[in-house]
Amino acid sequence: MAQRYHILGVLVLLAALAACAPAPSTPTPTRIPVTLVAPGQLPTSTFDDPVLRLGESHYFRLCAHCHGYNGEGQVGQIAENTIELGMKTVPAHNADGNLWRYADQVIIRTIQLGITNPLDQFAMPGFAATLNDDDIQALLAFIKLWWTDEQRSYQAQVTANMEARLAGLSGGLPTEEAPFPTATPE
Ligand code: HEC
Repeated sequence: MAQRYHILGVLVLLAALAACAPAPSTPTPTRIPVTLVAPGQLPTSTFDDPVLRLGESHYFRLCAHCHGYNGEGQVGQIAENTIELGMKTVPAHNADGNLWRYADQVIIRTIQLGITNPLDQFAMPGFAATLNDDDIQALLAFIKLWWTDEQRSYQAQVTANMEARLAGLSGGLPTEEAPFPTATPE
């Protein structure tokens, strides 16, 4: 019994010494310079055109955190991790992605309804309740700035074809003026 008290005494002494020891030095955090904007405001736009300003502000507020601030989608290590988990990555909207292959009508419906897939890490949310037709047109005008001239003319053609099809007229394939561009246009 006496020995047990002895051990207890040593433990109490050790604990007391530990409390007196200087705390291990914590590293000073590096301060990263950031530009602060007032809550609810966005950094100043570089566009004069009010439609592009609106599209840009919607994009930065609602889409960029998933699709990338330059429309690059999920890239690098994050994309690799997502792929390793067997999940779909967030697609790019810029010239490296596939969005320019889709008709406006398809893109608009996607933005309105979103894409639900319960197995995906991120589902694409629907914005029908948040964005009206003018908002979505402005978003499209902004997104299309990332595309090449070839991609824009191809996409204008598939949009026109879709409109004709939807109106019950025959659509048609890309024309000589707006040919199907190669997978990696210069
Ligand atoms: C929470 C993350 C998230 C947000 C926010 C988001 N998206 Fe998406 N988006 C996705 C994912 C993930 C997909 C792919 C879904 C799939 O194919 O299963 C996707 C797909 C799309 C597609 C289909 C394109 C393609 O190449 O498959 C369009 C168009 C699109 N998003 C536009 C937008 C726009 C415009 C906004 C902002 C108004 C937006 N998204 C906001 C995650 C997001």
